[in-house]
This record gives sequence, structure tokens and C-alpha cells, in this order.
Amino acid sequence: MNGMTQEPTHSREDRPEALLPELADVEEVIRRLLAPGEPCLEPAAAHALRSAGKRLRPVVFLLLAKALGQRPGVAHIVVAAVLELCHTASLFHDDVLDRARVRRGRETLHTLRGNREAVLYGDHVLAGAFQLLADLSRPDLVALMADLVRRVCAGEIKQWSRRGRLLPRQEYLAIIAAKTASFFHTAGILAGRLAGLDAAHAARLGCFGENFGMAYQIGDDLYDIVAPPRADKSTGRDSKAGILTLPWICLRDAHGSQALRDLYFKIDGKDRARVLEDARMRAALRESAEIAAGLLREGAAFFEELPQSPARDALAALAEDLRAKIMRFTTGKGPGFP
Ligand code: FPP
Ligand code: MG
Repeated sequence: MNGMTQEPTHSREDRPEALLPELADVEEVIRRLLAPGEPCLEPAAAHALRSAGKRLRPVVFLLLAKALGQRPGVAHIVVAAVLELCHTASLFHDDVLDRARVRRGRETLHTLRGNREAVLYGDHVLAGAFQLLADLSRPDLVALMADLVRRVCAGEIKQWSRRGRLLPRQEYLAIIAAKTASFFHTAGILAGRLAGLDAAHAARLGCFGENFGMAYQIGDDLYDIVAPPRADKSTGRDSKAGILTLPWICLRDAHGSQALRDLYFKIDGKDRARVLEDARMRAALRESAEIAAGLLREGAAFFEELPQSPARDALAALAEDLRAKIMRFTTGKGPGFP
């Protein structure tokens, strides 16, 4: 085993959960917003409450706030919950668009309740999140969140408009920056704003978030290719939709379009195992993982400007966990990706 695949070595004390008792309050805000106001919403709300994720966006946001020396108050708790609720809404929509049947080990909302209800419930959650934010009487925060949602949607539209095309690497990176990394980018800016930083300093935190989010999506795209059958989420969705993700782009850049065609169209068929063992494919997976690792390294440079603190250590540990997990995907031994 070489250095890139070693397990992270940090201790339990720098785990985010240990540092963030506020997450219980965030959870309560989320739970209250998702609680159905009327009986027709009950099935969707019950599903949303059952299939909670790891709350990664609130965790990153609250750790950044603490790394800035803030003691999270009501505004932090609400903003953390709003980030998670907007993300939740986007996943209800995304699973309809991607026809994904499983997420977080459960059947998706549209699989259980149909597309109409999944889309409308996603809209309902999104509007509720903005209502919470509006109650803080901070129009600047509302504007940042609205801008985030617009960027995410634009990223999704761009990705769809480029399906079936030989996507240049820069365009892929721009798409994942918009559709996924914007959440983490905005989390950084929001943490900076609430700490009273000027725009330039808040932007530095946004850069950390953006790099983290891009690495996260590259990990997700790797998992879409290498995940074992019956994974905890629907995979193989990208190749089925004709979406070219980073490993395929690396493969094409190194070996040309013919090699891409040879392997891309076989990944979901009986030759899947052979495609995953192909030396060109393995090199492409590896190169993608190295790009993600590079983004995480670059992102760390931004928050290392902050004073040393347990919250900063926890952010470093989070980034290191992500890097190690992504690297394991390239060895074919990785566990489930979030
Ligand atoms: C996951 O990508 C999807 C996103 C990161 C964004 C989805 C956004 C929309 C559908 C637009 C609606 C937005 C809002 C805020 C209501 P993926 O499909 O590559 O990842 P996956 O494997 O987790 O599905
Ligand atoms: Mg999807």
C-alpha cells in the first residue's frame, strides 16, 4: 500500500460531531420544517425524515464558523438547516431527473410516490427553507442562497445540454463547480459574512468550500462507475444518460475517442468487470482521484490562513477522510460513498 491509500490517522476528538453540539438544534429546525402541515404531505415528509444524510453542508458551515472564532447562535443554526434543506430539495428533483431508484440505502421519493409528488414536495421544502431564512431579516443571506440555487440549476441544465458530447475537461469542472460545489462555496461565504468578514476574506473561505465540493463530486462520479451492484445508491446513471464524467475524460485525453467508445459502452454490460480491470481505465480512475486530491490540497491552503483551532483541525480531518475514501475507489476496495 503506498502513501496515497493509507488510512487517515487523526483521533476521534477532531471528529466534527464531537465539536458541534449545535447539530442537534440544526436537526430540530430541519425536523420542524419537514413536519407535515397537512395529511397529504405525510408520506413525503416521513420519507424525508427517514432518509437523512450526513448533514455534510451544515457540518462544513458550522466548522468554518467556529474556525473563525464564532459561537454559533440562532442565525448559524438556521443557515445550517437552510443549506441542508435546499440540498434535500435538490436531491428529490435530481432523483427524478436521473431516474435513480435508490439513495442512502432507501427507495427514492419518486419511486415510492411518483414524479409529481417528488417534484412538488421538493419545491415545498425549498420554499420553506427560504421562509426560514427570510425570518432572519438578512436580505444579504437570502440573496446568497438564491444565487446558489440559480447556479445549481444552471449547472444541471448545462450538464444535460452537453450529454452525449465529448466534454472538454474545463467544462466538466465548471459543471461540477456549479451543481455541487456551489453549496460548499456558499457555506464558506455565509460563514464569513456572519463573522463580519469583508467580501474578499469571505471569498477565501468560499474557495475552500468550492475545492472541497468539487473533490466531493469527483468522488461521487468515480463511485458511479466503480460501485458494486446493490450499492446504497443508484449508480451507473451517468453513463446511461450519456454524461461524460472525469474518469472518462481522462481516458479520452490519454488514449483517444476510440478507447473511450470501446470502454464507455461496455461499462454497464457483461464486460463490466473487464472494463474496470483495463489498465487504461484504472489509470483514468487513478488520475481522477489524484485531481480530487489536488483540489483538496489546494483548498486546505485557504483555511490554513486561519488560526489553529480544533474546528480547523476537524475541517482538515474531513478533507483527509474524503481524500482517503476517493483513493480507495481506485483500488476497487472502497466502501459505499455517501
Ligand atoms: C447530484 O448530482 C445533484 C446535484 C448536486 C444537484 C441537483 C440539482 C437539481 C436537480 C436542481 C434543483 C435544485 C434545487 C436547489 C431545488 P449527481 O446526480 O451527479 O449525484 P448523485 O449520484 O448523488 O445523484
Ligand atoms: Mg443524481
